[in-house]
Amino acid sequence: MQHLLTLENLDRPSIMRLLDRAEQFRARGAARSLLAGRTVLTLFFEPSTRTRTSFVLAAKRLGADTLNFDLSHSSTVKGESLLDTLHTLEAMHLDALVVRHNENGMPAYLAAHAHTKVAIVNAGDGTHAHPTQGLLDVLTIRQRRPDFEHLKVTICGDIRHSRVTRSDVQALHTLGVRDIRLCAPAAMLPETLDGFPGCSTSEDFDRAIAGADVAMMLRIQKERMAAAQFPAAADYHAHYGLTARRLTLAAPGCQVLHPGPINRGIEIAPDVADGPQSRILDQVANGVAVRMAVLAELVGPAA
Ligand code: NCD
Repeated sequence: MQHLLTLENLDRPSIMRLLDRAEQFRARGAARSLLAGRTVLTLFFEPSTRTRTSFVLAAKRLGADTLNFDLSHSSTVKGESLLDTLHTLEAMHLDALVVRHNENGMPAYLAAHAHTKVAIVNAGDGTHAHPTQGLLDVLTIRQRRPDFEHLKVTICGDIRHSRVTRSDVQALHTLGVRDIRLCAPAAMLPETLDGFPGCSTSEDFDRAIAGADVAMMLRIQKERMAAAQFPAAADYHAHYGLTARRLTLAAPGCQVLHPGPINRGIEIAPDVADGPQSRILDQVANGVAVRMAVLAELVGPAA
């Protein structure tokens, strides 16, 4: 594995190996000699709290030198192209470049045009993929329910614009989940189910969550839609918000996930987000461990 761009072609043993490695990092903590002398740079063209911080912490806990490329003070604002930026950074010697971009396929484009052996890690591209989020979500689920083939998973919210859902579905399907229910108002359901193996769709959240073992909630991606498409918050919450009442329709012990950032009172009620079934902060903790596993796998110890 040289790059991590999507989970599409990652088979079950590869996913399991990364999850096992992440569990080892969670149990043992830092491993600062593993990437000593290596350099990991983050390049984010979209806002981020969790993903960027956890990549930087992951790299530091493996002993790598890390740098956040500061776009607002870089020559990108002077019109330098992304490829020229890439080649400039490569000339300073880089082992991994963690990229988030609003355009689908930008990390793959950089990977195809790199001059060196730099590992490109996709930290979210447009609506296309968010592979480390997919991995940390299945790791979180596996900690309580390793029996993927028996799971009923409901994903509710802005599926159409969700790179998280695409990567989650690929990972869940590869691990054996056969009942994945995508739930949203029609305008937020995907136009086709290509790329959504094992999925059914529904506009009725009460039906979609019935008996579910996992409920994954999503933020409305306002930055990817026209203002005219924004639903009214109260109306949306009434139909698609995860409330304590709705959670009683799910299977007992249903795990509640959300990639964050959460909008309390819109897609999820505060008492559910903070309640005993919420795994939201476990997802964050798992995110650091998964990113350690990915960087360790892609960059490896210095020769
Ligand atoms: C997600 C993203 O950026 O795709 N956030 C994250 O990485 N944890 C989801 C979102 O922004 O809604």
